Amino acid sequence: MVDLDTLFSLCKRRGFVYPGSEIYGGFGGFWDYGPLGVELKRNIRDEWWRTIVQERDDVVGLDAAIIMNPRTWEASGHLREFVDRLVECRVCRQRFRADEVAENVCPSCGGPLSEARLFNTMFKTFVGPVESEAAVAYLRPETAQGIFVNFKNVLTTSRKKLPFGIAQIGKAFRNEITPGRFTFRSREFEQMELEFFVKPGTDEEWFRCWVDQRLAWYRRLGMKPENLKLHEVPAEERAHYSKATVDIMFRFPFGWAELEGIANRTDFDLTRHGQVSGEELTYFDEETGQRYVPYVIEPSAGVERSFLAFLINAYEEEPDKEGVRVVLRLHPRLAPYKVAVLPLSRKEPLVEKAREVWALVRPHVMSTYDDAQSIGRRYRRQDEIGTPYCVTIDFQTLEDNAVTIRDRDTMLQERVPIPELVSAIRDRLAAS
Ligand code: GAP
Repeated sequence: MVDLDTLFSLCKRRGFVYPGSEIYGGFGGFWDYGPLGVELKRNIRDEWWRTIVQERDDVVGLDAAIIMNPRTWEASGHLREFVDRLVECRVCRQRFRADEVAENVCPSCGGPLSEARLFNTMFKTFVGPVESEAAVAYLRPETAQGIFVNFKNVLTTSRKKLPFGIAQIGKAFRNEITPGRFTFRSREFEQMELEFFVKPGTDEEWFRCWVDQRLAWYRRLGMKPENLKLHEVPAEERAHYSKATVDIMFRFPFGWAELEGIANRTDFDLTRHGQVSGEELTYFDEETGQRYVPYVIEPSAGVERSFLAFLINAYEEEPDKEGVRVVLRLHPRLAPYKVAVLPLSRKEPLVEKAREVWALVRPHVMSTYDDAQSIGRRYRRQDEIGTPYCVTIDFQTLEDNAVTIRDRDTMLQERVPIPELVSAIRDRLAAS
């Protein structure tokens, strides 16, 4: 399995991920996503949205504000409960999460550690021109609360009946004590969250159903079975709102760790928001004539965690004539570029023809063009960023108006007439 240093170096060199604010020495826990990273992230989000919202008739979307009325966090319990236990080294003054250090000894210098104190990991800011206690607000640590406070709005406007869900993708912020392991634990990240509202009593069945569906999503996008497993989170480790949680775990280079959590949040959040806001956040069941607070099943995934896991899962090295061939076997739907257009030589009129072909492909799929160095080198460059199809324009093209499609995984080459190129690529992507 690829180690994080190798992956970090590939990500930086090829424009997937850069350290945040790098010219100022970086900023712990913040990352910038480059031209390839932005595409991979977008594809992950799009796949999630397509599966969770577009293809279903019982889920609608939402895009709520990041900064919410601070009473939200009082109601949700985050002001009191969203805490980590922090210890500080009495010698070097470094800070750690208490659950990540053994035997009260500083992992950095071996010095003694302080008593643990509670640290709320929500980022604080001020709204308006006065920096007073009354103006304090928080950057949301989960997107879910934007969904709960809009439950009534969405229910009324979408006219959905239970069971139904509200999905949201957006930024979340956590002032992690120890960000690290590349992007695994960041301070700014994105969540893809679904709050699926169900009738109490049907929650356990729906919980299992969503665990299965989310696992199947990762598998469909190419996650190897040996890289995924489920973990039933014990009661003492669960969030304050959860009756049951299953984590989908991924085999990272540093060990198994949470990729996504699926929680049974019961009626906790809607009940609390109902109490604190005074709004009635209930559902009237026309079939039974009952009014109740729905239960909520929540699959919650991180875009950056998935990004990292998909890269690790896809990374392969294999020996070849020039030493080692690095291939990112990303699912074609996730690959930043679907197609690279490569003229065999930089000579005219080959380049002109290749540019014509690129112009033909561009409106249909995300693609790139490369005419620098040998064709073998260019194939390697595309393999290393996961491009599933290379389209080569050679001198024969000028005569037969056909190009060669080379497949990243099989390395097989097939001749295709240019007028059929777009549909040939589309067919391959649809079959993947
Ligand atoms: N609404 C539920 C919730 O936020 P969570 O387990 O704290 O639950 C859900 O977070 C997902 O968000 C995680 O499984 C992970 O993918 C992602 N995530 C959480 N904290 C993160 C961090 N500091 N950096 C990157 N991703 C994070």
